[in-house]
Amino acid sequence: MVATSETIRSHVLVGQSPRNHHVLRLVEKLGHGRWPTLLLGETGTGKEVVARSIHNVESSGPFVTIDCSSLVGPLMESELFGHVKGAFTGAVALKVGLIETAHGGTAFFDEIGELPLDMQAKLLRVLQEKEFRPVGSLLQRHSDFRIVAATNRDLAKEVEKGTFRRDLFYRLNVVSLRLAPLRDRKEDIPALIAHFITRYGKNHTLTQEALEAMLSYEWPGNIRELENCIQHMVAVNTGPLLHVPDLPSMLQNHLAAKRAQYFSAAASGSATSLKPLGEALAHDHRAPVDPNAPRSPVLPLSEVERQAILGALEFTNGDRAVAAHLLGIGRTTLYRKLKEYQLAV
Ligand SMILES: Nc1ncnc2c1ncn2[C@@H]1O[C@H](COP(=O)(O)OP(=O)(O)O)[C@@H](O)[C@H]1O
Ligand SMILES: [Mg+2]
Repeated sequence: MVATSETIRSHVLVGQSPRNHHVLRLVEKLGHGRWPTLLLGETGTGKEVVARSIHNVESSGPFVTIDCSSLVGPLMESELFGHVKGAFTGAVALKVGLIETAHGGTAFFDEIGELPLDMQAKLLRVLQEKEFRPVGSLLQRHSDFRIVAATNRDLAKEVEKGTFRRDLFYRLNVVSLRLAPLRDRKEDIPALIAHFITRYGKNHTLTQEALEAMLSYEWPGNIRELENCIQHMVAVNTGPLLHVPDLPSMLQNHLAAKRAQYFSAAASGSATSLKPLGEALAHDHRAPVDPNAPRSPVLPLSEVERQAILGALEFTNGDRAVAAHLLGIGRTTLYRKLKEYQLAV
């Protein structure tokens, strides 16, 4: 539905990939201006978070989300532009529309590709003239806002098909920013996991196997799916270590498919060409993941250390003081290393 206030708790743009750095730089720049901006990307890639981040750079005026996919039927126009009392049956009082509410701030048009053509025409007029007429009113009203629009559709194609107005497309497309799907920026996954564990967990730590499963998964639902996955793991888990059995069914299925693939290849005799199961993930988790990269027979020391820490935490059921003692290091050192390896926060 339509939301006019904070429906997302955090607007932190987590991620260390070069792509994310580019997004952060652009967000900062756009936040100091009023350029119309078009955000492109699959669902769950963070379009709304980026829109809010742009707004939050200066935080002037309201941030109004207008979910175009939920604006349907005869009340759409009055939702957007408001109505005067008695404009139609049921219009018992004056209603201020979302367009007017956004005055002085940012209007985030989510799923703009869903907006019907007649509303596109009206929106274009507001953007050009900064004026509109509430339903049933003879008087023009004024609203001036920054527009950030988002879509997971190919709007240029919609323009060719005639379902999206060319003039509105150009008006919105002053700056466009495409957010990459999570499968194309897997190096952001560990930081995102740490972020969501902080948000939803307590002292939870992810096992190497669970991390490997998450790194090799394709995440069709992108960051939203990853967030749900951590919430699920924290909810079903009883101890501080998040294990493979805590993973949601989609990831369990993914792991099962990988295992089946591995064993059927082993049975058919091509085992010599097989890489160890989960190999794509058995390297420094902060480095970009390249599933085809050859694996060294020698474990990097950092990996040994990481696994020792995980093992100690598992053994002590998450008791960090005892784990530090068993590892022969001080508690502060353990905390530093947990942070360094992004094992917990
Ligand atoms: N870079 C990011 N850092 C942290 N959380 C993010 C990031 N991008 C997206 N999220 C989270 O993922 C979920 C989906 O993001 P959202 O902006 O709603 O995606 P979209 O609008 O593209 O569908 C939200 O809960 C949001 O908080
Ligand atoms: Mg969205």
